[in-house]
Amino acid sequence: MTPKKIAIIGCGRVGTSLAVFLSKAGYNVAGVASKTISSAQKTVQAILSIKGEGRNNSKEETINSQEKTNNSKDITSYEDVKLCISPAEAAISGDIIFITTPDNLIQNVCFEISSNPLVDISEKTIFHCSGALSSCVLASASDKGANTGSIHPLQSFAPYTLGQNSPFVGINVSVEGNEKALVIGKELISSLNANYFTIPTKSKTLYHAAAVVASNYLVTLENCALNLLKEANLSEDKAYTILEPLIQGTLNNIKTRGTIAALTGPVARGDFAIVEKHLKDIDEVLPNFSKLYRVMGDYTLKLAQKRGDLEQGSIDRLSEVFNK
Ligand SMILES: NC(=O)c1ccc[n+]([C@@H]2O[C@H](COP(=O)([O-])OP(=O)(O)OC[C@H]3O[C@@H](n4cnc5c(N)ncnc54)[C@H](OP(=O)(O)O)[C@@H]3O)[C@@H](O)[C@H]2O)c1
Repeated sequence: MTPKKIAIIGCGRVGTSLAVFLSKAGYNVAGVASKTISSAQKTVQAILSIKGEGRNNSKEETINSQEKTNNSKDITSYEDVKLCISPAEAAISGDIIFITTPDNLIQNVCFEISSNPLVDISEKTIFHCSGALSSCVLASASDKGANTGSIHPLQSFAPYTLGQNSPFVGINVSVEGNEKALVIGKELISSLNANYFTIPTKSKTLYHAAAVVASNYLVTLENCALNLLKEANLSEDKAYTILEPLIQGTLNNIKTRGTIAALTGPVARGDFAIVEKHLKDIDEVLPNFSKLYRVMGDYTLKLAQKRGDLEQGSIDRLSEVFNK
């Protein structure tokens, strides 16, 4: 195969991991640029090292790897990795361009590339990796005919270290964008041995909100539970050990039975007397948590009602308690 040329702009955690593991998958990472030359140099060295060419070249210029025959089917023959001094220079070197800067810079970097008269953006495909933003932030490129999309790995990336395992294997990655970008994005994700799923452009924000609720807000809720146990005289370490099997069991029930069937506890049983007792004690020891308990309780009641086995009297009493 003729490897597609990739350009990486932003040599941080995600950019470097993409550079290394796309390179390993047979793509030709042709150019890299970052804010600082030192980050771009590290990424070039990581790419060369993965190809078994780990030479210590730190010149601020094109680094040409020797033409060599490689037995691997993936890496065909000869690759240059260009250490670029600007996003535009990197963009010129690639057919597929990843803008892996922090989210708030993606739009500006894209504009910088698209408005540069030396870059013919029309035949290129541009991706960013933000979960919160859609491909719309790449409008300056799509307006000039480029394919645009976003590829968001549901993974927490640490800074890349030489020789580390791929953080992409087996993870789920969303892809969103125009039709051609979707096709290319799916190929890229599959080549990283990750699983892709598509998101409509207009739903990207909701998708990101879902990820925030599933991950970040779960942390917040567990923190509240630990604080309640602290008020019950248990140390935080011990409190977590005590709760962990319950948390894992609940996650397992959600996985096997779904959220409605997984729901247990006083709200699911319609036991308003217990809920009233909870709130009496919480109001006393953790008043900051009272509002959240009530809001969550009210939402949980709506979930419990979907099971269809709660008496109307219990529903009314619980609703009254939560909305007091
Ligand atoms: N980290 C994660 O777990 C994760 C997970 C999923 C998605 N993402 C997304 O991936 C993207 C990158 O995140 P990250 O965690 O890899 O960020 P990061 O580690 O902070 O790296 C960002 C890189 O962008 C470079 N940069 C800053 N301004 C630049 C500019 N004007 N031109 C070129 N390069 C510039 C920085 O360069 P220097 O190093 O040279 O200063 C840095 O290396 C973001 O959209 C983020 O939302 C991150």
